[in-house]
Amino acid sequence: MIKLAKLLGLGLTVLLSHAFRLHDVFLSPPPKNLEARVDSVLTLMTLEEKIGQLTLFTSDWEVTGPTMRENYKEDILAGKVGAIFNAHTAAYTRELQRMAVEETRLGIPLLFGYDVIHGYKTIFPVPLGEAASWDLGAIQQSARVAAAEASAAGLHWTFAPMVDIARDPRWGRVMEGAGEDPYLGSAIARARVEGFQGTDLTATNTILACAKHFAAYGAAQAGRDYHTVDMSERVLREVYLPPFHAALQAGARTFMTSFNELFGVPASGSSFLLRQVLRDEWGFEGFVVTDYTSINEMVDHGVVANEAEAGELAIRAGVDMDMQGAVFYQYLLDQVRNGQVSVTLVDDAVRRILRVKFELGLFEDPYRYSDEERQKATLLSPANRAASREVARKSIVLLKNEGEVLPLSTTLRRVAVIGPLADGRQELIGAWSGAGDYRDCVTLLEGIQARLPKPGTVNYVPGCSIGGADRGGFAAAVKAARQADVVVVGLGEAAQMSGEAASRSDIRLPGVQEELLQALAATGKPIVVVLMNGRPLDLSAVAPNASSILETWYLGTEAGNAIADVLFGDYNPAGKLPITFPRNVGQVPIYYGMKNTGRPFEAQDKYTSKYLDVANEPLFPFGYGLSYTTFAYSNLQVQPAVFTPDEPVSIKVRVQNTGKRAGEEVVQLYVRDRVGSVTRPVRELKGFQKVMLQPGESREVAFTLTEADVQFYTRSMRLEAEPGDFDIYVGGDSQATLQALLTLRK
Ligand code: GLC
Repeated sequence: MIKLAKLLGLGLTVLLSHAFRLHDVFLSPPPKNLEARVDSVLTLMTLEEKIGQLTLFTSDWEVTGPTMRENYKEDILAGKVGAIFNAHTAAYTRELQRMAVEETRLGIPLLFGYDVIHGYKTIFPVPLGEAASWDLGAIQQSARVAAAEASAAGLHWTFAPMVDIARDPRWGRVMEGAGEDPYLGSAIARARVEGFQGTDLTATNTILACAKHFAAYGAAQAGRDYHTVDMSERVLREVYLPPFHAALQAGARTFMTSFNELFGVPASGSSFLLRQVLRDEWGFEGFVVTDYTSINEMVDHGVVANEAEAGELAIRAGVDMDMQGAVFYQYLLDQVRNGQVSVTLVDDAVRRILRVKFELGLFEDPYRYSDEERQKATLLSPANRAASREVARKSIVLLKNEGEVLPLSTTLRRVAVIGPLADGRQELIGAWSGAGDYRDCVTLLEGIQARLPKPGTVNYVPGCSIGGADRGGFAAAVKAARQADVVVVGLGEAAQMSGEAASRSDIRLPGVQEELLQALAATGKPIVVVLMNGRPLDLSAVAPNASSILETWYLGTEAGNAIADVLFGDYNPAGKLPITFPRNVGQVPIYYGMKNTGRPFEAQDKYTSKYLDVANEPLFPFGYGLSYTTFAYSNLQVQPAVFTPDEPVSIKVRVQNTGKRAGEEVVQLYVRDRVGSVTRPVRELKGFQKVMLQPGESREVAFTLTEADVQFYTRSMRLEAEPGDFDIYVGGDSQATLQALLTLRK
């Protein structure tokens, strides 16, 4: 009898809902609390409509993966898709939303997602460049401007921040993250999530963040994109997971699974990642979307025999939404109907997605983000360009400045501007540049010309192309150099030489750029190299041939102006490397927090850990960056020097500007646990502060360290601190020598 009554009840509900459209139902005052509102929609939905909410398709405006479906509009009208990505602008999102809200049975609003990775229309430095600013306020501001522009163009959701720790510069996507360190990466993950989401997701200038790619995608073997990831759970938890946890603590409402396998299971099928870690341990309540067709790809991984099995594995593992794979779309209905997959799994996933749509305010007003007026007023506004220029200046790292060739004087009479990146407008927005248009960019040449407007002062010669072997332009370049007082050379990679599916086995400058630089250096003129690249490069052939080197990554729309601000001293560079620059690719993986080994290098001892042909140290270490002034560190104090678990430790150091210019310094705190129940890194970043000091000014910079800061996964895999001695280092990079001893007593 109960079954019959249930069936009747269900039939009645479906019958009723056919007569009502969703918001007619909502005409009556909606239930007060979010869960009741979600459930009130869920009960109206057919199984087909539920599966539609678990489906995300790309529009045909852009394609960011290996497959493309043509009939996504028919799917919207059939209620068989709940979210669309790569569709933007107020007009287009409004049109697609109208189809979903006005022409489907229940009118459930669509979610619009897009890769707003470092700006929507006003492009900011690539994330690795922003990370070099170590300026969390600037990084948050960048995300906030991106959110304001993206939401003005009808978008609700960005597939960012990418928080993958990366320690292999061969990997193209190193440009998309925050570098090699979990502490810096966690701080930046928080800043980016807070910038995108703000404090109110219903606000029309905030968008959903998406922490990706969960997890450990950056550890692809040999830096080859999509390659196997194999690591211990301890390394996963101590190095690769912390930025994801930080993103979650900052309130990220969505996570994206990664393409790679982990512990032999692809992330989109990993209940260890999606249920045990993300939901059970961390309490995540948002929804999980897969990366592009990564459910389908579990067949190629070889953990399932076909896509139907892949879909079943994914929904059981905790995937909520299938990006572009159309696997739930094709197989889940039958799998639920024949009892293979419980409808509870589907309902739970639908609830998580509907909850987020409610949180965005889409049920109240599905068109709230698609606003032509706001779009026109917001995109590429002067204020946004100014913000981009400010973040860009902060992202520049001064790697070398021999003889203080920089800053340049505006009274210079002859400057040769040479190199394939000097006027390479189309490279400046880098990879993953959203709706950015390189034609809006200011080039390095234009930035310099704006400072030296007198005719005949600036002489531009490309010299060579980015790639290729043509040396035909060398002679003109060398001639221009000979005639100049100073030579500025724009070198680097093409924008598409980094980003997704863009790994390089050779991380030197491509083509014949090194030879061009050598020819220019032979003139004996002061050479200023301006690098534009998406990864750490092997600069072993560059450094000896340059008086000064600026690492400028890809700085976005205002690149040329920001670089000129630094070249001519309007802004004193303060960037610090968020990732190690090796001497050559043979050193990779190389990062500052390595282990000591049982045979640490000793020059006099053959049988110690070393190479025959290169030093162990990198060319430029993590945390390194120069300034137009200099800083001195002294008086490191650790109080108390012996502490107990409930006792915070005060660490103070005096920093002085010992030069003639005001400048900012990123004061960095590193800790070494001398003895652990498992081997410990020789250093770990545990704090940083960026301070502005006037010439001669000195200031006490203080940090607080607690027992929690020195916890790690001990031999028993418990997260805990162990008593013993710690070395405390404070300085301007990861090779800081100012040291003090700290002891933990339990
Ligand atoms: C891509 C990327 C992912 C991106 C997604 C949508 O394959 O791996 O980072 O967000 O597809 O474009």
